[in-house]
Amino acid sequence: MKEIAKKVLHYENLKTIKYTHLATTITYARAIGEELGYTEEQLKVMEVGAALHDIGKSLIPPEILNKKGRLSDDERRIVNLHAVLGYELLKSLGYGVNVAEIARDHHNPMSKNFMAQIVRAADIYSAMREERSYKKAKTHEEAMEVLRASRIPQNILDALDKKYGQKKTVTNPIQGFSIRTAIA
Ligand SMILES: [Fe+2]
Ligand SMILES: [Fe+2]
Repeated sequence: MKEIAKKVLHYENLKTIKYTHLATTITYARAIGEELGYTEEQLKVMEVGAALHDIGKSLIPPEILNKKGRLSDDERRIVNLHAVLGYELLKSLGYGVNVAEIARDHHNPMSKNFMAQIVRAADIYSAMREERSYKKAKTHEEAMEVLRASRIPQNILDALDKKYGQKKTVTNPIQGFSIRTAIA
């Protein structure tokens, strides 16, 4: 496989995947997993999947992937194949089922693989919080709106809120100590 990979992979395509985006996607995926009680072993599997989620882009013709301006429907369909191509590539390289499925399902709201849903959330959240040349970074709340519209499961939203949301109320050490209890 490695010999074939050398011939068919467009390594130059991987330059379109920004290192900072991968780093933050990995960080957010781990943070969500930690909140949901994943083991260190599971977290590591998920981190590998997060790091390689877009690896299938290396199998997309560069002239389509890097095309400036609008893609035709066919070109869009070809670019969308990066998920399933990533799955096949990772499987053939000997990666485990979760890593491969994270790549396959990282754009799929119907995925039954929960690690893939976490990486999907982390991927979107990272893209929203990042400043790009053509857009400003969104706030946590704005990014959460996008995640809700993308049908991210509720417990993942809660985990992100807990980790990165602004606390609406300042935790008060004497919370629950109301005037009524004070005078009772
Ligand atoms: Fe992708
Ligand atoms: Fe991504």
